[in-house]
Amino acid sequence: MKTIKDLDLKDKNILVRVDYNVPLKDKKVESDLRIRASLPTINYLLENGAKKIILISHLGRPEGKENPEFSLSPVAEELQKLLNQPVDFKPLPQNGEKLNSNAKIILLENLRFNPGEEENSKDFIKNIVGSVDADAFVQDGFAVIHRAHASTDAIKNFLPVYAGLLLENEIKNLKKAMESPEHPVVLIIGGSKVEDKQPLIDKFVTIADNILVGGKIAADGYKPLDSKIIVATDFDEDVEGNKLDIGPVSTAEFAKYIAEAKTIIWNGVMGKVEDPAFSTASSIITDTIGKNTSATSIICGGDTTGFVENYLEDHKDLKFSLISTGGGAALEFLLGKDLPGIKCVES
Ligand code: 3PG
Repeated sequence: MKTIKDLDLKDKNILVRVDYNVPLKDKKVESDLRIRASLPTINYLLENGAKKIILISHLGRPEGKENPEFSLSPVAEELQKLLNQPVDFKPLPQNGEKLNSNAKIILLENLRFNPGEEENSKDFIKNIVGSVDADAFVQDGFAVIHRAHASTDAIKNFLPVYAGLLLENEIKNLKKAMESPEHPVVLIIGGSKVEDKQPLIDKFVTIADNILVGGKIAADGYKPLDSKIIVATDFDEDVEGNKLDIGPVSTAEFAKYIAEAKTIIWNGVMGKVEDPAFSTASSIITDTIGKNTSATSIICGGDTTGFVENYLEDHKDLKFSLISTGGGAALEFLLGKDLPGIKCVES
């Protein structure tokens, strides 16, 4: 895979695909994980002499139409704060229009305001490349690499493609966990949708030493089909008897496996974590993973990474190898699927 370290950046205009599909509330960024995760690449490009950095991203699913609700404008503000330098926020260029900006860092408006993005349109992305006079393309939007869109696939027809530091780091950690993991390997599964998680369990039955199943899946009576699969057996309940977290016996058993593991992959929270009364098991699991610094530890899935990020605010000493920015993308990678955005960097 070619990465930005193989690229002579001096005086070049670099078009960078990031994934700034972040949750917004009242036009403010609610979680800046994906924005912070893009900073190492941006800083690397700046430090190594790039002339201009033009960032492109989608946000939400505006279905090919302009819609202020899905504007990247709050992201531009947040990015500016995090970088501590100006970010020029610009609309998508019209056909044949040259970008008019003297800024060093530019963020274009939501790619999905134009149907060409999701249609993987060559004309759409060619127009952007021409408009910004790009010399090279950097793919750093790990969370969107499972989509065959103009900015993850058609782009390869117009510019040389390089992986950014975020993409490289995500792939390195996920690949290691899949292809050459140190044992014992422990997969922790939680959340509520068994149909989403079963393929991961099936895949890891041959890779993992133990698969720990908690969350609503366990509360709903998940039936293990292999002796490696350990399902939570006790639960914390609300007054109506709903099982909303795994209980202390199962949590302690899970923690024992996690503390001894050399590779840990966690996807899916253990309970209804938005209610602090039912976040105990997920907190203990976060703590145990974060203290097992001799293991490669990967946290993936939006709910799980969100929980861990929040927990980290008061527990800064905990360490994880990767808090993945990719929900669907990380899952598809772990399932060994072909991902258009990665193929594009490899070709
Ligand atoms: C995500 O948040 O998983 C990515 O940004 C992809 O978004 P999408 O599912 O709308 O394509």
